[in-house]
Amino acid sequence: MLTEEERIKIEAEIRENEQKPAASVGVLKIIQDHRGWVSDESIKDIAQLLEMTPDELDAIATFYSLIFRRKVGRHVILICDSVSCWIMGYEKILDRLKYILDIELGETTPDGRFTLLPVACIGVCDHAPAMIVDKDIHRDLDEESIDDILSKYE
Ligand code: FES
Repeated sequence: MLTEEERIKIEAEIRENEQKPAASVGVLKIIQDHRGWVSDESIKDIAQLLEMTPDELDAIATFYSLIFRRKVGRHVILICDSVSCWIMGYEKILDRLKYILDIELGETTPDGRFTLLPVACIGVCDHAPAMIVDKDIHRDLDEESIDDILSKYE
């Protein structure tokens, strides 16, 4: 069930679009900002407001890798696995993250602190390897910088 605050924001987002389904991504982001992820129940609730079927909305939600359809940790690490980052040491950074967090890609730490996910190029190829934690972009990563970066996210 949507909260009053979510409903107000969603209705405002819908009003900004000529066709209700065009507001889909914006509406999904509103839910994610409030709840951290988008559950099946949320998909049903907002599909109704967008005059779409839950399946149609789910197809859009699952197309965008930054819309989380599964529960995630308090902080989401998106490590870029595209070509520049790959060449510049993606594997070492990933190994370090997996070692520190003791999880694999796609998993969440048992304490719910971090989820580790891959992402395609985030547009800072000249500062590869790079990753995003929540909304922060971290550039020019090396194995030593990872511990410091993670310590900033409780
Ligand atoms: S390839 Fe990683 S930021 Fe572009």
